[in-house]
Amino acid sequence: MRRITVRFADLDIEFVDRDMALRQVEDWANKSTWYPVVIFGPEGCGKTAFLRQTVEALRELDYNVLYLHPLDRVFMAEVDEPDVKSLFLDLARQTLADEKWGRIALAVFDLVRELLRRRKRRVAVIADDVFQAIGLDNAAAYVKGLLNMIEHPVYDYEKIVILIATSEGLSRSEIGRHRWSIIMPMWNMTREGFQELYERIPGNKPPFEDVWRTTGGNPGMLSRLYLTGWDSDALVTQLIREKGLTPDFIVRWRVWLGRVVEDPEALWSPDVPEELIKQLVAKNLIVYNMYDRDQAFWVDAPPPERDPELGIGRDVAWQTPLHREAVRRALKEYRV
Ligand SMILES: Nc1ncnc2c1ncn2[C@@H]1O[C@H](COP(=O)(O)OP(=O)(O)OP(=O)(O)O)[C@@H](O)[C@H]1O
Ligand SMILES: [Mg+2]
Repeated sequence: MRRITVRFADLDIEFVDRDMALRQVEDWANKSTWYPVVIFGPEGCGKTAFLRQTVEALRELDYNVLYLHPLDRVFMAEVDEPDVKSLFLDLARQTLADEKWGRIALAVFDLVRELLRRRKRRVAVIADDVFQAIGLDNAAAYVKGLLNMIEHPVYDYEKIVILIATSEGLSRSEIGRHRWSIIMPMWNMTREGFQELYERIPGNKPPFEDVWRTTGGNPGMLSRLYLTGWDSDALVTQLIREKGLTPDFIVRWRVWLGRVVEDPEALWSPDVPEELIKQLVAKNLIVYNMYDRDQAFWVDAPPPERDPELGIGRDVAWQTPLHREAVRRALKEYRV
């Protein structure tokens, strides 16, 4: 399979690793996904890069692919019918102008129908971060619409693949309340895959071991670290601001947060305030209620069962060690 080129900070880099995930895509392509597959995982773990590579993979497997990533303003119609392609691109242009993302998200239903009306074929819809664009309130209904496309197609299809990615922590529970999709987590990169990526970065850089321990294999954090000139303190400062780790938040939850930076599993206890968990999930600091480390449940390789150094517990994990470090530093700075 051809490997695509992805943007990595100021570099263009070949998509590396994720072999296991790409084999899963092949498997889905051969069988169809019988539900929309909703992929969630730490911010910057590589969902977008993976979905882009998926477009290429499915194309090579003879699929007609509609791809939308409203937040990045990228829309692709890799389809055999030129007029469907231009229809989609016209809609994309219109949407980029007026930012009514719901229209193009919904147009996917009509376009797939149009593709199938002409000929029974293989179709795929790849939607990245659509929930943020259409609003979390509409997310479940959208997924239901996609499921209907699979279960009650107006025109018959040969095979169908529907993949959605979300980095919005709360969408998981919003979507998970219904049985309309299969929700699959994706973790940061494995050590080997991450090392491959690290080696593609030119110039002077800290030893791999340090970078691994700082980022936990998260390619997004790797790119940010590279952009700061490998200044992890500066990156932690940015995170404290971005995540809204304000004195008010820190002081309110200081006792609990003190425990959680030592061991995220401290949150897996019946007396933890629900509000705190909700906020940590909403801020994309932790992943709560981690899936069993059975390959079948994960896109690509699951993380280890536990890795205290990287902040991974059996049921709760810091998204990356940098996320934990931001909270740890904020705890130090905002003492009462
Ligand atoms: N397998 C890979 N090979 C090469 N580069 C990668 C790979 N995975 C991710 N990257 C790069 O790492 C950065 C972060 O990845 P990406 O944007 O795909 O993460 P994400 O999970 O979609 O993040 P977000 O949660 O913010 O949407 C990007 O620059 C991306 O191109
Ligand atoms: Mg993304």
